[in-house]
Order: sequence, then structure tokens, then C-alpha cells
Amino acid sequence: MKNHHYHIFLFTLFTLFSITQSFDYADALSKSLLYFEAQRSGRLPYNQRVNWRHHSGLTDGLEQGVDLVGGYYDAGDHVKFGLPMAFTITMLSWSAIEYRQEIIEAGELRHVMEAIKWGTDYFIKAHTSPNVLWAEVGDGDTDHYCWQRPEDMTTSRRAFKIDEKNPGSDLAGETAAAMAAASIVFRKTNPHYSQLLLHHAHQLFEFGDKYRGEYDGSVAVVKNYYASVSGYMDELLWGAMWLYKATDREHYFDYIISKAHTFGGIGWSITEFSWDVKYAGLQIIASKFLMDEKHKKHADILEQYKSKAEYYICSCLNKNNRSSNVERTPGGLLYVREWNNMQYVSTASFLLTVYSDFLKSENQKLNCQNGIVGHEEILSFAKSQVDYILGLNPLNMSYLVGYGPKYPKRVHHRGASIVSYKENKGFIGCTQGYDNWYGVQEPNPNILVGALVGGPDNEDNFVDQRNNYVQTEACTYNTAPLVGVFAKLLQIGNRSLVHDYDSLLVASF
Ligand SMILES: *[C@@H]1O[C@H](CO)[C@@H](O)[C@H](O)[C@H]1NC(C)=O
Ligand SMILES: *[C@@H]1O[C@H](CO)[C@@H](O)[C@H](O)[C@H]1NC(C)=O
Ligand SMILES: *[C@@H]1O[C@H](CO)[C@@H](O)[C@H](O)[C@H]1NC(C)=O
Repeated sequence: MKNHHYHIFLFTLFTLFSITQSFDYADALSKSLLYFEAQRSGRLPYNQRVNWRHHSGLTDGLEQGVDLVGGYYDAGDHVKFGLPMAFTITMLSWSAIEYRQEIIEAGELRHVMEAIKWGTDYFIKAHTSPNVLWAEVGDGDTDHYCWQRPEDMTTSRRAFKIDEKNPGSDLAGETAAAMAAASIVFRKTNPHYSQLLLHHAHQLFEFGDKYRGEYDGSVAVVKNYYASVSGYMDELLWGAMWLYKATDREHYFDYIISKAHTFGGIGWSITEFSWDVKYAGLQIIASKFLMDEKHKKHADILEQYKSKAEYYICSCLNKNNRSSNVERTPGGLLYVREWNNMQYVSTASFLLTVYSDFLKSENQKLNCQNGIVGHEEILSFAKSQVDYILGLNPLNMSYLVGYGPKYPKRVHHRGASIVSYKENKGFIGCTQGYDNWYGVQEPNPNILVGALVGGPDNEDNFVDQRNNYVQTEACTYNTAPLVGVFAKLLQIGNRSLVHDYDSLLVASF
């Protein structure tokens, strides 16, 4: 009984603390979308809001005789890497599909669509014929010798492609997924564009499926940066999954079922979801198919997908048997690995939020090895991760740049760390950038608003130094899943927190 009271006491304290620490998810959502404008390559449009940036990469593809102007720089450098860019677009699109209404209510649908279209417009250009996809522009090695603004870029802009003789099923599969997911987003407002995206998605999937191989075997320059460690089978299943969602064509569903075993869809229990490893996302979407009458005859395979999805969710909730849980920092942040850990936190928050909604709509609970979990608890854990990101952590630091009073000031980012081209048009060379801008202690002159940096180490420590790229570099695929989660939290955030925690309190006794 004593113990019982102690718990209530702690819970009350926690509740009070949570109320005083309510975050402005609307602000976080708006800011997260600005980040994609800062990462734009190509000719910037009249309505560009991030105005310390200017046109760049205007001759991309010229050497190879193809127009590859546009797309996104993936992180703090100026290489356009196809695989993480496609995953970014898939996650932005999934956010927009799952939380469309919430995003509309927040007044941000137009910006989300613009962020997606900046990527898909580029993929349309890069997919020059059915079996040719341009995979990368620039290369990490020469790029990393230079610390320059994108507007001054003097590094190699050589482009690399995959084709029938140089296959890349992972890249083709992920790009097909991105195009198919985006086609759903544009279906109502721009049906012609939506059809065009779908047309590319079909072709890309067929290309990836027919000419099998890992893209880093064909595009060697990518190996030290975005090697496809998990291979291509997850991306082929993932591509088929999104094409099935976009078209309802039996053919794609059969692919997911018939290859579930051989392609590892129901074989892999995995505790990360990332630009490389798609299994958890795939398994979660497959779990939802189980609920439809028309899929009942494949219930056995779908059940196996679901069991793997649950393994992932339970591992994030610390409810699997001990060794199969995701580690946490003392401050409670999911911790997968040192370099850019926040990418895993961001994708986990998204998948947890989606799974919580799914359980709620089916009026079900999740049965983990170490207990039964309800949808409220899952959402509340996802919220705890997002709140950590926004400043509820031992350093009181927001890892979303530009949000709140304290955030990283020396983000490892070439453009943000050098005086804006708009203020000083004088050319800044490779080593000049290193000497005069990279190496100085001052905060970056431009704030990379909405970027989610790599984040703290496994002890919640964070060193805000430009050369600490493991912690201070941001990537487009870090922020993309947060777009959906911010929108969801914004919508529930307007309900009384006291009321929510009261019902939790009742439920837990
Ligand atoms: C996990 O733990 C539960 C109960 O403690 C036990 O019944 C089960 O066999 C364990 N599962 C695995 C996979 O070790
Ligand atoms: C964080 O904020 C809390 C509450 O305001 C304060 O007690 C604590 O000292 C702060 N920690 C740091 C590292 O600033
Ligand atoms: C939440 O409440 C604020 C202030 O009352 C309001 O301006 C905003 O539109 C609401 N947001 C949503 C998503 O309901």
C-alpha cells in the first residue's frame, strides 16, 4: 500500500512537470518544413522562404548530357545521394498520407506538398528511361575536401547512374516507393501529376526487380557514405507495398506475400528503421492489411509480418525480453548507435505513433513479451521522444535547430556556417571556407531552422562543435518522419493534458 501511494505521488509530480513543459508542436511543424527549403539544390523559386540560400548546382548532369538540376543536398555537404533522398520523400509522403487532416488543420499541407514535389520533380528528371536512374551527383570524397557554400560550389558534379548492366534494386525499389507514396498525396489535388508519378513508380519497380543487384556495387563512390548494408530485398518488398497502396493491384500484393519468406519480410526481427533498413515499416503496413476481409486468405503470412512489427514496437517500448530491447540513455532517449542516433529516434517515434493509431482504431492492445500495452501508452512514449528532442532532456537543449531558447549553434553544415551569399557575393574557395568559417568558434551566421541534428551520446551529452559531425550534422531523413508526428501531437495537444494523465492514472491501477 505504501508503495502504491509512492507511485501516485511520483505520477502527480510527473503530471505537473508535463503540464509546465508543453511544447509548441505547431511551431515545430512549421520549422521542420523550412529545413527542406534550406536543403534545396537547383534554381530556387520565387516563394522560397529560407532566403539566406540562393541558386546552386545549375549545371548538375551537364557533363553526362542529362538535366539533373534540383533535388536535395542530403546533409551538411553538397552531394545529392539518391537513396537517402528517396527515403526522405517516402517518409514525408507517408506523413502526409497518415496525418493529412492534422496537417491541413495546422495550415501546412501546401508546404508539405512542396517539400515532396521538390524531390519527386528531381526523380522524374533522374529517371531518364525505363531502366536508367541517375543515382548520385557529386561524390563524397572530393566534396569533403571543400568547405564552401552551395552557391560557390567548385567540386566535381559528376553524375552516376544505375542501368541494366549496373543494377541497383535497392535504389530503384526505394525510388519506386517514394513515387508511389507521393502519387497518393497528389491524387486529389493534382491527378495528372499523381498519374505521372505512378507511371515512374511502376517502371522503377520493374527495373529493380528484373535487374537484381545492390546499387553500391554499381556506383562505387557511394560505398563509404550510403552503402546498402541490408541489401535490396527490403526495398523491393517496400516498393511493392507502396505500389499496392497506390494502385490496389493484386500483382503487388502477391509479391509481398509470395516473397515474404525468401526476401526476409517475415524473417527479420529488427530494432531499427532507417534509409537502409525498411523491414519494420513494411511489417507495420502489412499488419494493417490483416484487418481487411479481402486479405483473409493470406492471414497466415500477414500474421507473421504482424508478429515482427510487434517485435519492433515492443523493443522500442522496452517490453521485449531484455537483450532484444533498444537501449536508452539515462534521460530516456532511444539509443541505437553513436553516429546520427536521432535518425532512429525520429523514425521510431513515427512508427510508434502510426501503430498506436492502428491499435486504437481496431480497439486492440499490443501483447509484448513483458506485458500488454495500450495505444495511449505507445503514443505517450512517442511523445516523450519528441519532447526530449524539443528540450525535455538533461541539457535542456532542443535538437531541432531554431526551436526554443537553446539549440545547437554550430551545426556541421557548409551553407549555414558561411556568410550568406545574399550578404556577400564574393567567391569563397574550398580551403578558405575551412580556414575562415569551419575552424572558428563563433556560432553559424545562418540558422538551419528545422534541422534535426545527430544528437547526444548514450549519456545524454552533446558537444556543440562544428567538427563534431557525429552529433551536430543534420540529415533530411531525420526531420521527414517528424512532420507526421508533430502534426499528430499538435492535434491531441489541444486536449487537456490533465484529463489525459488522469485517465492513464486510472488505467494503471
Ligand atoms: C521472454 O520472457 C517470457 C516471460 O519472462 C518467457 O515466457 C519467454 O519464453 C521469453 N521469450 C524469449 C523469446 O526468450
Ligand atoms: C535545465 O532546466 C532545469 C529546470 O529549469 C534546471 O534545474 C537545470 O539546471 C537545467 N540544466 C541545465 C544543464 O541547464
Ligand atoms: C489549438 O489551439 C490553438 C489555440 O486555442 C488554436 O489556435 C489552434 O488552431 C488549435 N490547433 C488545432 C490543431 O486544433
